[in-house]
Amino acid sequence: MSSSQAALVATVGLLLSAAPQVAGQVREPSLGRRVYVEHCAVCHGDKGDGRGDAAEHFATPPRDFTGGRYKIRSTPSGQLPTDDDLARSIVRGLPGTGMVPQDHLSEAEVRAVIEYVKSLSPRFAAAPPPAPVPIPPEPPPADGSVARGRKVYEKADCGECHGREARGDGPSAKDLKIKPADLTRRPFKGGSSPRDIVRAVITGFDGTPMPSYHLLLDDGELWDLARYVASIGGAPGVTPDEREGWHFARTHQRRR
Ligand code: HEC
Ligand code: HEC
Repeated sequence: MSSSQAALVATVGLLLSAAPQVAGQVREPSLGRRVYVEHCAVCHGDKGDGRGDAAEHFATPPRDFTGGRYKIRSTPSGQLPTDDDLARSIVRGLPGTGMVPQDHLSEAEVRAVIEYVKSLSPRFAAAPPPAPVPIPPEPPPADGSVARGRKVYEKADCGECHGREARGDGPSAKDLKIKPADLTRRPFKGGSSPRDIVRAVITGFDGTPMPSYHLLLDDGELWDLARYVASIGGAPGVTPDEREGWHFARTHQRRR
C-alpha cells in the first residue's frame, strides 16, 4: 500500500469512527455511558459483564448486568427491580462489598446511568418491572413484638441458613456458595431498618439462596420478625441513623 493509500485508509477510519448516528448529529457517548465508564466499568466491566479490571479484588463479585438479575428489589422474586430500587443501591451502595456508595453523582447522572445499566440486559427491553410488593403498614410498637419475632424466626426456619443466633452459621451454610448474612452485623446491604428487613424477607435476594417469604408469613409475623432481626444488630451505642446504614454512606462521600 502506498503512503497516500495508507493516509486515505486512516482518514476513512477516522471518519467512520466519528460517523454520525443520525444524519446531522455527531455521535458522542450519552451521559449514562460516560458516567458508567468513569465510575462503574472498573468493577462491572466495560461491557457490563461484571469482569472489570478490579473485579478479582472482591470476595463478592461485581454484578453482571447482562443477566438482569438483582438482589435488592421491591418487586416479587424473579422480577426486575424498579428504577428506585436501582437508585437506592447505587447511591447507598451495598455495605460490606466493593459496591461503595456512588453518592458523589448528581441526580441526573444517577438517572442516566440507570438507563444505561438497563440497556445492558435484554430483560428490561422485553417488559417493564412489575409494581412493588406492598409492604404491610407498620403496626405501632407493642410489648412482646421482639419476643414473638424470635418465635417467627424459629418457625420460619431462618436458622437453617442464618444459624440459631443468626450469625450466618446455620447447618446449611457450609454447602452454600453465597454465604448467609450474619444478621447481627450492620449495616445490611438492603438497608437496616425494620421496613428494609420486611422488604428483604418478602422479596428475597434473586441469584442467591435467600428465599422470598411472600404470602408465607402474615403481616403481624413479618413486622415482629423484622423487629427481632433489627434488635439483634449493631454495636452498642449506635444511633438509629447508623443502624440504617447512613454512617457508612457518609464516610464514603465526595472522594473526587
Ligand atoms: C469498586 C467496585 C465497584 C464499583 C466502582 C461499582 N460497583 Fe456496583 N457492585 C460492586 C459489587 C462487588 C457488587 C455486588 C454486591 C453484592 O452482590 O452483594 C455490585 C453491585 C451493584 C448493583 C446490584 C445491586 C443488586 O440489587 O443486586 C448495582 C445496581 C450496581 N452495582 C451498580 C453500580 C453502578 C451504576 C456503578 C457506577 C456508578 C457501580 N455499581 C460501581 C462493585 C462496584
Ligand atoms: C436457604 C438459606 C436461607 C434461608 C432459609 C434464609 N436466608 Fe436470609 N439470606 C440467605 C443468604 C445466602 C443471604 C445473603 C445474600 C447475599 O448477601 O448475597 C441472606 C440475606 C438475608 C438478609 C439481608 C441482609 C442484607 O445484607 O441486606 C436478611 C435480612 C435475611 N437474609 C433474613 C432472613 C430471615 C429473617 C429468614 C427467615 C424468614 C431468612 N433470611 C432465611 C440465606 C437464607
